[in-house]
Amino acid sequence: MDNFYPPALTLAGMKKIRWGILGCGRIAGKFVADLLLLPDAELMAVGSRSLDKAEAFARENGFRKAHGSYEALVADPEVDIVYIASPHSHHHEHTLLCLQHNKAVLCEKAFAIHAGQAADMIRLAREKKLFLMEALWTRFLPHYQLVMEWLKEGRLGTIRSMQVNFGFRPMEPVPQRLFDPALGGGTLLDIGIYNVFMVHSVLGWPDEIQAVMTPSETGVDEQLAIQFRYRNGALAQMLSTFRSDLATEADIAGDQGRLRLHNRFYEPSTSIDFFPGRMDTKKTIAFHREPGWGYQFQARHVHECLRNGLTESPVMPLDLTLELMRLMDEIRRIAGIRYPVDEQMPG
Ligand SMILES: NC(=O)c1ccc[n+]([C@@H]2O[C@H](COP(=O)([O-])OP(=O)(O)OC[C@H]3O[C@@H](n4cnc5c(N)ncnc54)[C@H](OP(=O)(O)O)[C@@H]3O)[C@@H](O)[C@H]2O)c1
Repeated sequence: MDNFYPPALTLAGMKKIRWGILGCGRIAGKFVADLLLLPDAELMAVGSRSLDKAEAFARENGFRKAHGSYEALVADPEVDIVYIASPHSHHHEHTLLCLQHNKAVLCEKAFAIHAGQAADMIRLAREKKLFLMEALWTRFLPHYQLVMEWLKEGRLGTIRSMQVNFGFRPMEPVPQRLFDPALGGGTLLDIGIYNVFMVHSVLGWPDEIQAVMTPSETGVDEQLAIQFRYRNGALAQMLSTFRSDLATEADIAGDQGRLRLHNRFYEPSTSIDFFPGRMDTKKTIAFHREPGWGYQFQARHVHECLRNGLTESPVMPLDLTLELMRLMDEIRRIAGIRYPVDEQMPG
């Protein structure tokens, strides 16, 4: 199997890239564990709303400095890039804060609550010529890269249908952000985004969208079913849920073959199945599994962008992020998913 990810950077003569972490929650811990796999990443500083929490996180993960506010983190002159790991509801505010302090930013998905916020963030980054990228880590995974490569080569023929599902029952204690409308709760922005991103990556903007949701007690989508239809007849179905554990798999079917991404298609995978002809002609494509959660692939890419003086990723450009946000706005409009912040915009 070929290597489908960029080689690790060598350290010879290179200044390390100094990371700051904004928000010491669950994903921050996993991302930082993977940053440790990059020899040219320096764990410089963390910022939390609580100094005690920042100090504990910094100690546990080997950061040099802990700040008791996000303002102190972004004012730190020894930080090159900030990884924003707060809830989606706060990505707009926190990204603007970083950019205003001339920091490059890697912002967790969902990039924002709606496209209006995303456009603001992008405008400021472009004005200030600062690096900004959405942390849609899936796009950088080796198996995902192979899929995109094969689709470009037309190995599956014309894509006729896709089916992508992501569902799990959150463990107790259930994280508040998953169901809190003020924090952008619901499945779409948390996990449904992976389904939508995959379908959009393969088939693009749909010509027709259908979407229905089951509201939670708090009014956010605890289950969401989406269908896209395309002018050439292609169809896609996506299901996201916090109410049952689904096989988190993806099927991409063309008129000359089918690819099946196994359970947890959005994470690093050791294999995918390729059906070049009829159902009984399966070929399994194996991937080398690196240590780590898989966040190192996007972090490596960010390092390459910064080292090459890029302000946008050519792989995950900001116009793509904006289009994805617009698509999710449209899905929300059709399914009736509203957030308090929507009241400040027309719709
Ligand atoms: N890429 C992935 O695989 C992946 C996986 C999970 C989550 N995510 C994304 O990462 C983001 C964070 O998710 P998470 O699961 O890490 O959430 P989390 O455990 O709740 O952590 C979020 C952190 O944000 C900070 N924060 C700032 N304002 C907050 C507020 N008003 N309420 C709650 N927390 C606030 C807190 O840090 P301090 O208390 O230290 O200030 C908190 O620990 C989400 O956008 C999510 O979609 C991505």
